[in-house]
Amino acid sequence: MRFPEGFVWGAATAAYQIEGAPDVDGRGPSIWDTFSHTPGRVVNGDTGDVAADHYRRYRDDVALMAEMGLPAYRFSVSWPRIQPGGKGPANQAGLDHYARLVDELLAKNITPVLTLYHWDLPQELEDSGGWGARDTAARFAEYAELVGARLGDRVPSWTTLNEPWCAAFLGYASGEHAPGKTDPALSLRAAHHLLLAHGLGTQALRGVLPSTAQLSITLNLAAVLPAATSPGATNAVRRIDGLANRLFLDPLLAGHYPVDVRQDTARLTDWSFVLPEDLPVISTPIDFLGINYYSPTLVDVGPGNDGPSPWPACENVVFVQPPGATTAMGWAIDAQGLRNVVHRVHEQYRPIPLMITENGAAFDDELGVDGVRDDERIAYLRDHLTVVREAISAGVDLRGYFVWSLLDNFEWAFGYEKRFGIVHVDYRTQKRVWKDSAHWYRQVIRTNGW
Ligand code: FCB
Repeated sequence: MRFPEGFVWGAATAAYQIEGAPDVDGRGPSIWDTFSHTPGRVVNGDTGDVAADHYRRYRDDVALMAEMGLPAYRFSVSWPRIQPGGKGPANQAGLDHYARLVDELLAKNITPVLTLYHWDLPQELEDSGGWGARDTAARFAEYAELVGARLGDRVPSWTTLNEPWCAAFLGYASGEHAPGKTDPALSLRAAHHLLLAHGLGTQALRGVLPSTAQLSITLNLAAVLPAATSPGATNAVRRIDGLANRLFLDPLLAGHYPVDVRQDTARLTDWSFVLPEDLPVISTPIDFLGINYYSPTLVDVGPGNDGPSPWPACENVVFVQPPGATTAMGWAIDAQGLRNVVHRVHEQYRPIPLMITENGAAFDDELGVDGVRDDERIAYLRDHLTVVREAISAGVDLRGYFVWSLLDNFEWAFGYEKRFGIVHVDYRTQKRVWKDSAHWYRQVIRTNGW
């Protein structure tokens, strides 16, 4: 198995999941500080206060990436480090940190791929309405401009938002993520304002970045399949595909919202938060689309669960556990889902280069005297990379792949219990130990395949 020359190999992390140091260098609180410190929100009461202590250990971590031969590193900037309250002038100490990180990466020939928003909204902005408020989109564009102006000369690839679906629907509908709201109508507004933030942020970045800069957004696209051959199941697929995929892909790549999603959710909202001038902003051209993929989604018609759901107005949809093996998250392992999503974008939207910006798996890794045997993770990565390679052969313009994650980290509502890293982190000592998958990945990078 050989990948095309120039295929980008990388690994990904996110600020709140690895950095720790919540009150260092003038950082303000984010919604994830508030949420994780609220009893009952995160397994074991875990918080990101220390995490993998990467804010202090970034030099060692970059050295580790260099040892792995990693050509690219996807990380996120913590907005409240740049603007502690989400507005106003930049906090220089915060910007300095990311400038040092970027310099360190470049010194080791690792390409920085920077995400501006991986869910850590400054708490003050949440207090004035969060993503439910239109103004938050304008604030995001100002933040993007501050970071772009400082790092634009050294960072070639930029991503505005990571997984706006999660930010909107886990954050404001099911409440599983910060800020923990359970208001389906609000979550649809939030989705729109996130997309608007992406558009305004892209325009702001274009104004300050060199013309060679590559701009993008990362979506967690779902491979939605019917659990039965019935009109009800087909309709359930349409409903979930609408909210998971088309609600984002259509405005970004085709300049309109899906009519059926607007109709399906009409009893919750009249969508008057969408102004006529917003769609041209949201569809501002980007240079590539980031796709995160973990597991397929199987649906049918039936009585859904009572209680908060991340799927507004989908009370008649049930989620069916696909047969077969799962990861420690309980997520079905099926690389065909990745094939489904990349072909879908390739075939149904305008031509756009794609990057897999996250893919990986949590397993119950055990640290032994000589490292971590994680054959299941290697198999997972190999299967998904095989699909990537096949898609490229079939003509899909797929440019790169980032493993989630470089390090074990704070897995949001699951805290430290779920380990996604190819490098093991002992949270007591902060010692990093390569899992077998890290050794394997180094070899894959070296030989551009296996
Ligand atoms: C994605 C997130 C990432 C990580 C993985 C497992 O939804 O973007 O931060 O938590 O899931």
